[in-house]
Amino acid sequence: MKIFLNISLAAALFVGGVYLYADDDEMEHARPAYSKPLSKQDQASAALYKKECGACHMAYQAGFLPKRSWDKTMKGLDNHFGTDATMDAADTKTIQNYLMTYASKNDRITDMKGAVALRISQTPHFVKEHREITQKMITQPEVKSIANCTACHTKAETGSYREREIHIPNYGRWE
Ligand code: HEC
Ligand code: HEC
Repeated sequence: MKIFLNISLAAALFVGGVYLYADDDEMEHARPAYSKPLSKQDQASAALYKKECGACHMAYQAGFLPKRSWDKTMKGLDNHFGTDATMDAADTKTIQNYLMTYASKNDRITDMKGAVALRISQTPHFVKEHREITQKMITQPEVKSIANCTACHTKAETGSYREREIHIPNYGRWE
């Protein structure tokens, strides 16, 4: 963990990435960079990603999952959580490349069973962070699914998940 933290911080300084912490006293949980700054060439790809993959839900930041997760997701779009999310071959390739470039460098991220994670919401880190969320908070009509990040994280679209920005419908602010 210590080594990982040091590498993360070094990486943050190196790429100038944005690192988020739950609290200042939770420094031991170094956050991955959910969204690295975009290079100029990648802005068009990011816009395409938002358009295509943000049509049914938020365009989740690539940095939540490692490369192999995105690879598996992009190869299974014809049966994507019970829907057909396929698009033309050129767009698929552009988005695949985009997700690979901005994926988490932490290849140890898996799902709860140790398999390739397709859901951010079923990774151990996510489950741990959300352990205090009750079923009632999730099943209410304003939220419906734990995958509906923007229902609670008011700035999720911008890649920001700070505690002070959390507002759970009908429960209020988290702080
Ligand atoms: C029902 C409301 C709700 C939904 C939906 C939800 N979250 Fe959260 N999330 C929370 C709360 C509350 C916390 C803070 C938990 C704590 O500190 O105990 C949190 C914490 C986090 C954190 C840690 C923040 C930090 O600064 O450490 C991240 C990252 C995060 N959520 C990402 C997501 C993503 C990505 C999604 C969608 C896939 C999502 N959340 C969906 C309520 C929600
Ligand atoms: C036709 C609608 C549709 C499109 C387009 C779509 N998705 Fe989804 N996606 C879904 C549904 C439905 C779910 C399951 C949501 C839930 O459980 O609440 C989902 C879930 C996900 C999840 C898991 C969320 C979590 O952590 O639980 C990821 C990751 C994801 N989609 C990525 C993508 C990517 C990448 C694209 C673009 C290539 C994409 N989606 C396009 C419908 C879509």
